[in-house]
Amino acid sequence: MSVSSFSSSTFVFTCFLIVFLLTPYPSNCAAKLSNTTSKTRQLSVDYYSKSCPQLEQLIGSVTSQQFKEEPVSGPATIRLFFHDCFVEGCDASILISSKPGSKMLAEKDAEDNKDLRVEGFETISKAKVLVESKCPGVVSCADILAIAARDYVHLAGGPYYQVKKGRWDGRISMASSVPSNIPRANSTVDELFKLFNSKGLALEDLVVLSGAHTIGFAHCDNFISRLYDYNGTKQPDPAIDPRLLKALRMSCPHFGGNKDIVAPFDVTTPFLFDHAYYENLIGKLGLLASDQALFLDPRTKPIVQTLAKDKQTFFQAFAAAMDKMGSIGVKRGGTHGEKRKECSSMLFS
Ligand code: HEM
Repeated sequence: MSVSSFSSSTFVFTCFLIVFLLTPYPSNCAAKLSNTTSKTRQLSVDYYSKSCPQLEQLIGSVTSQQFKEEPVSGPATIRLFFHDCFVEGCDASILISSKPGSKMLAEKDAEDNKDLRVEGFETISKAKVLVESKCPGVVSCADILAIAARDYVHLAGGPYYQVKKGRWDGRISMASSVPSNIPRANSTVDELFKLFNSKGLALEDLVVLSGAHTIGFAHCDNFISRLYDYNGTKQPDPAIDPRLLKALRMSCPHFGGNKDIVAPFDVTTPFLFDHAYYENLIGKLGLLASDQALFLDPRTKPIVQTLAKDKQTFFQAFAAAMDKMGSIGVKRGGTHGEKRKECSSMLFS
């Protein structure tokens, strides 16, 4: 895979750390993952079985092609789904474009969404065009986004799971709703938990879903404060491995660095959807403060240890948590929702 496939971002590869950075962790850690039951009664796996039986194949043809041509479409779309579900529910409100000249910006133009990669939006609009050509006016953009995110999890090596469908697209998309609903790179575990809990997600879901950071990249400004002046101490974050610190400092100078530079979340296997994210946290290799905090907090540490131990445990928990996240604030029917023709604009805007 060439560096040029990372569009405008300059990719910093820190994988030389791979071999010697993996620190051992206790193999007898015994936190038990509770059974994540989902409240997705109103959605169903066979929702389009009569109206668009070939839906998943249609979307699959787009995601597999995109994944080959632009692998960053994977992390981009998974993150897009998360940002959709956390603001106004999983209703494709993140895909709406702001009206030219309007003071009211749409969600996607909020500051917290500025780093969402274009490849995620492109995936959904390509899939929508194909789906509309075969099943006009039937399938919501919100369902296409949920299916595409699942496809990419699987294409990157993660679990395949059934996606429940039946979401309608929302009629509200406001940038002002974003800041209070999207977590920050320096959020504390308390803040993260409060936010996730407000969406009906448990502490365990927070740790499991953060495992999506097993793939993808982050810009320097999301972790630079850890490298030079952590919490005003003029020192780096003590919870960061010195070799990772050195590598990241080379890529992200204290002042005057290139704002497009990104570093991989998972220095060991940045393109593979696996459970290395959790081993990394144990070895002080978390990229964001909010990632590393999950191993520092006594409430979440045992969950991290359990997920680090066994890939299958992580995969099962991740599939269940995505199902749960995918049911947040779901709209049904024409009173609150619509089936858009184009994902970037509402039907009657
Ligand atoms: C727990 C709180 C979370 C915080 C604070 C957080 C924060 C971030 C930040 C700051 C970035 C880097 C953006 C950039 O610099 O371009 C990022 C990327 C990413 N996030 Fe999260 N995130 C969280 C949870 C999640 C969840 C729940 C998912 C999905 C289930 C997710 C999926 C991703 C992915 C895949 C990327 C990589 C995107 C790319 O490479 O284009 N994140 N996240």
